[in-house]
Amino acid sequence: MEESVQVGPWAAEAFVDYEKLLKVFGAKPLTDSEVHKLERLAGESHLMLRRRVFYSHRDLDMFLNMYEAGYRCALYTGRGPSGSTHLGHILPWVFTKWLQDRLGLELFFQMTDDEKFLHEERLDLPESNSFAYENSLDLIALEFEPRKTHIIIDTEDIGYLYPVAVKVAKKITYSTQKATFGFTDSTNVGLVFYPVLQIAVSYLPTELYGEETYVLIPAGIDQDPYWRIARDIAQSLGYPKPSQIHNKLLPGLGPEGKMSSSKPETAVYTTDPPEIGAQKVMRAFTGGQPTVELQRKLGGNPDRCSVFKMYEMLFEEDDSKLSERYWNCRTGSLLCGDCKAELASRVQKFLREFQERRDRGRDKLHQYLIRSKFSEPKLKHR
Ligand code: TYM
Repeated sequence: MEESVQVGPWAAEAFVDYEKLLKVFGAKPLTDSEVHKLERLAGESHLMLRRRVFYSHRDLDMFLNMYEAGYRCALYTGRGPSGSTHLGHILPWVFTKWLQDRLGLELFFQMTDDEKFLHEERLDLPESNSFAYENSLDLIALEFEPRKTHIIIDTEDIGYLYPVAVKVAKKITYSTQKATFGFTDSTNVGLVFYPVLQIAVSYLPTELYGEETYVLIPAGIDQDPYWRIARDIAQSLGYPKPSQIHNKLLPGLGPEGKMSSSKPETAVYTTDPPEIGAQKVMRAFTGGQPTVELQRKLGGNPDRCSVFKMYEMLFEEDDSKLSERYWNCRTGSLLCGDCKAELASRVQKFLREFQERRDRGRDKLHQYLIRSKFSEPKLKHR
């Protein structure tokens, strides 16, 4: 099967040929000069840039130029609240928070309780709506700035989106929807309409601020199909084209696949009791050999190992320690059990601290909701 069909909004693998994917999607690899420019503007480096966890983009260079020239800019990302948040979801949010802090930008965060209700047979609407609030606590635990973070919950905040969404909807044909998202005759029409709402948020900052606003969307590469349409139609609607920076997908702890809520035993949730999170890591499938003897003799394969990827993408700040771990694995001097035990203790500590902040966040949640800060955009009459 072609890699192109293995990554999209509702199905994605993790160990894919990311370069090939770029060619299929038509996005650009992130170059050293773009990384250096972002680091210069941010005043520091970030491990997800250095290691190309964020590895591709559309018009990041344009966005940075506009930012540098003093134009109004904003960030946009989101979550489909189908259950608890796992470490894969928070990966782009950790980076988004860094962008918010370092560039001083406001963030629009969409919670698509409608999307998940429409897509998941098992979910009813009150459930996906209540996950939207639960998942918002994860943003608070990541310490997003409340004054600069605006959460939109689709089913409740539709008044913010709809005046933009109808204009978007008029520009998109059913044939584009089918070709982009693979919809068929049996897809419910709610899901056929839904992408309009995800696209609409990329233009919302321009409406709310009442001035042309350049938007950067940090998100997994699986979300790219929405942005291709958003960019195609932006100018005809009078909005700047939104820019994207794409992350690779954190693998699940099983033998294959991205970390995904559809395989709960291979995902570490932010709500897992810390010792359960640690146990999941201890049971992870690694790139190691079946026996200690073979591991010592042949070494492991960190490039295909979910445990190594956790260190690389989230849990090891220090580049030289990461490289040491890589080569110790390759040459057989590091055994999987030891490598997992160290990660398990880091994950356990992370969860403990994260959950303390998460629990304290409940009282602050209202400060993050868009409806507590902006009024709904009004239609401009000629
Ligand atoms: P959702 O809830 O599937 O995913 C939320 C964000 O997490 C990213 N992601 C991952 N990143 C790294 N490793 C993984 N294993 C992993 N799994 C998921 C996704 O790419 C995404 O950035 N339709 C969207 C909700 C949405 C949205 C947006 C997302 C609305 N507007 C704007 C990004 C940007 C969704 O269901 O995301």
